[in-house]
Amino acid sequence: MCDDIFYFVGMEQVPFYSLDYVGRDLGPALESSVMEAVRSNWYIRGSRCQAFEKAFANYCGAKEAVGVGNGLDAIALMLRASILLGRLSEGDEVIVPANTFIATVLAVRAAGLVPVLVEPNPDTCVLDASRLEEACTARTKAILVVHLYGRLANMAAICEFANAHGLLVFEDSAQAHGAAYECHPERNAERKAEGSSAAAAYSFYPTKNLGALGDGGAVVTDDAELARMVRMLGNYGSEQKYVSPLAGVNSRLDEIQAAVLLAKLPHLDSWNARRREIASRYCTEIRNPLVRLTPVPANPKSHVWHVFPVFCRRRDELQAFLKERGIETLVHYPVPPHLQQAFAGAVSRGELRHDALPVTEELARTELSIPMGPGMSDGQVAQVIESINAFV
Ligand SMILES: Cc1ncc(COP(=O)(O)O)c(C=O)c1O
Repeated sequence: MCDDIFYFVGMEQVPFYSLDYVGRDLGPALESSVMEAVRSNWYIRGSRCQAFEKAFANYCGAKEAVGVGNGLDAIALMLRASILLGRLSEGDEVIVPANTFIATVLAVRAAGLVPVLVEPNPDTCVLDASRLEEACTARTKAILVVHLYGRLANMAAICEFANAHGLLVFEDSAQAHGAAYECHPERNAERKAEGSSAAAAYSFYPTKNLGALGDGGAVVTDDAELARMVRMLGNYGSEQKYVSPLAGVNSRLDEIQAAVLLAKLPHLDSWNARRREIASRYCTEIRNPLVRLTPVPANPKSHVWHVFPVFCRRRDELQAFLKERGIETLVHYPVPPHLQQAFAGAVSRGELRHDALPVTEELARTELSIPMGPGMSDGQVAQVIESINAFV
């Protein structure tokens, strides 16, 4: 008993995620980058956004990046642009992993396409090429891969399937900034495998591996036509002031957010390396038969551990147990998109298609995201490991 009390007293609070490391690693560089933008007197579609687009495209090993307002818009705009370029048609089906964040599915609907929800691989939680065949119909025209939790799906196998069936491949890379494909291990070419992906969408939501200090997003592609169309659509369908050949929207990466991202981008690889270090400790030192982990991929660089998920049948008890020990956790995601009220009746209206999704529902019932981030100290990591191992 006394030991227990001593143990609790000695523990520190472990937040799910802290952004303190940004100030620690960037110091005055972040402030001066932002203040330069503030003093520039030009806040939308200026030189900082242009510079960030160039730097981010370069970082991804791609030709083009287009800054947009957020990750949801990035997905919707790359799909909408593909329709306007005649590569997809409204009403086409797009395969999407069923266990994704709702934004992926909302964006497909916003573009006028029909999401087809497919079970993920239960071990890795990302799309499994072996499940694509059964989901495909004559109306299926694209696959939207989601690199959930920061783990790249097996793009080589997915692109091979897509090529064989004449499908386009898109990526929702909102959680996977800096993850590198196995076929390009030395290149941060997270956007494409063997040239097959049409485009990738990123979110710069503040807690993402590369996050702004507000909303932000980008579409990354080698396709100059697609990039131009996304840029037009995000700017009222216009390339020339007050002339709009297309019915677009307002979705742009502003200068302040671009200044933040420009200052942070050079640190992304080292932040991801720290995430991998923490993940490697979690994977080797968490030993509790009640808790299942996802495996480390053969190429460690193909995972940037945006989230570290664990799976436990008694998830809610585990969460309460960790909370008592000062450890904050979240669930990604407690309600999968097909069970959200937003999509009630969508299947019967032909706006969504899926079969039974027991794997997805089981993941939603059992997933718990434990603290992960470049700001975690070794002591905090040890505290999380010891606490999970103490759960009986
Ligand atoms: C997988 C996934 N897709 C899309 C989004 C949407 O990004 P945003 O919040 O910037 O709109 C997110 C962000 O939370 C996400 O995690």
